[in-house]
Amino acid sequence: MTLKIGVIGTGMIGRDHTRRIQQVLAGAEVVALSDVNVASAETVRKDLAPNAKLYDTGEALIAAPEVQAVLVTSWGATHEPYVLAAIAAGKPVFCEKPLATTAEGARRIVDAEVRFGKRLVQVGFMRRYDAGYVALKHAVENHTGAPILVHAAHRNPAVPEAYVTPMAIHDTMIHEIDVFRWLLNDDYVSARVLYPRNAARSHTKLRDPQVVVLETKKGVLIDVEIFVNCAYGYDIQCEVVGEEGTARLPEPMTVDMRLGAKRQSTILTDWKDRFVASYDVELNDFIAAASKGGATGPSAWDGYAAAVTSDACVQAQESNGQAVAIELPPRPALYA
Ligand code: NAI
Repeated sequence: MTLKIGVIGTGMIGRDHTRRIQQVLAGAEVVALSDVNVASAETVRKDLAPNAKLYDTGEALIAAPEVQAVLVTSWGATHEPYVLAAIAAGKPVFCEKPLATTAEGARRIVDAEVRFGKRLVQVGFMRRYDAGYVALKHAVENHTGAPILVHAAHRNPAVPEAYVTPMAIHDTMIHEIDVFRWLLNDDYVSARVLYPRNAARSHTKLRDPQVVVLETKKGVLIDVEIFVNCAYGYDIQCEVVGEEGTARLPEPMTVDMRLGAKRQSTILTDWKDRFVASYDVELNDFIAAASKGGATGPSAWDGYAAAVTSDACVQAQESNGQAVAIELPPRPALYA
């Protein structure tokens, strides 16, 4: 069976996921496209999905009888209504992060899915599908003993002036927030944010770098350095310290060169290159589960937990280093 998918939002990631479905992965086909920028949808159809039908609105696409599953890749603020409409139609939906721009919005999606009684939503937290993180999780669960500490860093070469301090959480650290809950099989109880002096390359509306310290229910302390104007490259670091030993996220594969009396290897500069393979695996997972009418992987509950944690981290950015509590209500049985 070929799963018939409709894509809402044909910008950068919507176009890339369409290419994946049409050219890389098996078992699915893009049959419908919608974007408020009609020219963008037309271009994606012409370039990648000539048989797809264009819809004026995302709602019309979701309701279309030929659409069996939905990809929501429009701007973040539009995700919630589209995901709710897909749940109401009983159609599996892959939603790029964020699930919603507020914790309340994410909670409405959780409640709708719980009422529906079956998982339909997968959130685009693709790091869980990265081979390096999968190997790290295996090491943490099987070799290094119960985790005690996590040291992590998320560094980007540069960001534009429009990038302001809260975006370090909402746009950048959101991936760490999700992946550490999954990696440690744990939940957060508090967040603190500490700032060193501002880096010379930072902007007037950006504190950069910053260090977020998360504490978990099981007592693990996680420090995450976010440094989005580090200049030298896109660099994701993670080391877990356990009772028996430590485990470190593998570096991306690179050729080790000996040149001019130096050892050299390339550091990536674009995040798209760092996690390119994981996007393929996450969508493959979506296609497999959606073909059976359901969803797997990062859930609406995970999207909600990420939203609650993000809000606490943003509050902690303005709390002079004080801890901000993170409280989740009981997890519905659907997400056990
Ligand atoms: P983009 O700006 O390139 O594309 C978004 C598209 O959505 C635009 O073509 C825009 O016209 C369209 N759009 C806006 N409102 C709409 C509406 N109401 N209905 C239909 N279409 C609408 O943005 P980009 O970079 O593709 O990001 C899209 C989403 O994907 C964001 O939420 C972003 O956070 C997420 N994302 C996730 C990544 C990940 O690593 N998982 C990576 C990049 C983006």
